[in-house]
Amino acid sequence: MFSPLLLIASDRAAAWHIRLFDVLTLDVSSYEETLTNADTMTVSVMNAPTSAYIHIPFCAAKCGYCDFNSYAGLMPLADRYVEALCRHIETANAHLRAPLKTVFFGGGTPSILQARHLERILHCLRQTFGLDPDAEVTLEANPESATFQKLCKTREAGFNRISIGAQSFDDSVLESLGRVHTHQRFLSALADARRAGYANISFDLMFALPGQTLQNVLETVRQAIQLAPEHISAYCLTVEEGTDFHRLHRLGKLELPDEDLQAEMFLSIQSALTQANFEHYEISNYARPGFRCRHNEVYWRNEPYWGFGTGAVGYVQGQRTKWEINPRDYIEQIEQAGQPRVEESEKLEGRALLGETIMLALRTAEGIDLDSVSQRFGTDVAACYSGEIQRFSAAGVLQRSGSTLCLTKDGLLLANEILCEFL
Ligand SMILES: C[S@@+](CC[C@H](N)C(=O)[O-])C[C@H]1O[C@@H](n2cnc3c(N)ncnc32)[C@H](O)[C@@H]1O
Ligand code: SF4
Repeated sequence: MFSPLLLIASDRAAAWHIRLFDVLTLDVSSYEETLTNADTMTVSVMNAPTSAYIHIPFCAAKCGYCDFNSYAGLMPLADRYVEALCRHIETANAHLRAPLKTVFFGGGTPSILQARHLERILHCLRQTFGLDPDAEVTLEANPESATFQKLCKTREAGFNRISIGAQSFDDSVLESLGRVHTHQRFLSALADARRAGYANISFDLMFALPGQTLQNVLETVRQAIQLAPEHISAYCLTVEEGTDFHRLHRLGKLELPDEDLQAEMFLSIQSALTQANFEHYEISNYARPGFRCRHNEVYWRNEPYWGFGTGAVGYVQGQRTKWEINPRDYIEQIEQAGQPRVEESEKLEGRALLGETIMLALRTAEGIDLDSVSQRFGTDVAACYSGEIQRFSAAGVLQRSGSTLCLTKDGLLLANEILCEFL
């Protein structure tokens, strides 16, 4: 019934920056003749970032599906890592320092750190950049390490949004994922977060998991709705190279829902959540009115952000920089030289920047405003991509209304294939 459901993995807050490096190596030369002024760097890209991503690489155990820059067994490095991270933050160009409007502690598992570590890093960000009075400050948490005391202390320190890795409410599914938490533990972490004063809570859910049925997914979603979070991210499992799941998959030992069932799961989740008054504002993200993740919206608008920590990616002055991915080396480099090694770096300009901006914007419900992007890039975007726009509109996966271009419901199911065509 449906073609492959290929929701690109790049929407997962911590991992997505990394994926962009892979995607951007695609050939964009076919657009070179049509883009005359596109080498003009946009104003917003050159602005001082007002968002910061902080990477915490520690986890209690490595989940079978996860290829994030995260490690079990490294907690003895925590004190040194936090000090190195703070020194890294302090290397930020003094001319580009501006009060932060969004901060995202992602991982790995930021909640595995002690409260004093998290307070220290947030304090350092405050001292270095300043923090807007209504800044969104998110802490990613695993239910297992999100204790009441830690939640109280982090809330007091200024964290005001928590994103909890729930994945599923079925203990047998959690076990098959290699999760360290149970459904009961999730419920108590959630209650503790509310008691500690968190009024903006997001759940991460996953679907298309090994052996999972539609009923199983919908039961988790039904319970999630009853628990009334402000935000839900529902990710389609991606089998990532180098993971245990990938090895099992290659051996034929991972029984995954077929593509039709994946698509059915996606549409059923969408229907259940939108009926419960969640706004489907990005392929994998749903929010109650007023509770979209402002930090992720910066990524989708392709605006600048700082990135600090091992393997973190920053996007400053049009330059995308990924830092040393090995946590030990990252610490040693900062201890010895005052800064980490650059793992990868590239200057995004012209066609590559335009293509990426379109690809990211099309992930969102608003889609892309062709007029404002044309203005931003000094070129007629609709003319540059007329072939793609016509082809995808005729296929019913893209729709244009006035100057707005967005994916249709069917388009959401083919997002990966469609978006890559704009790069
Ligand atoms: C950094 S983790 C969240 C915090 C914490 N580490 C945890 O897992 O509880 C980010 C989220 O990405 C999602 N994720 C990770 N790997 C994935 C994959 N291969 N496919 C789909 N979603 C994935 C999971 O939902 C996970 O909660
Ligand atoms: S706890 Fe989160 S970051 Fe760590 S391995 Fe599991 S999914 Fe990945």
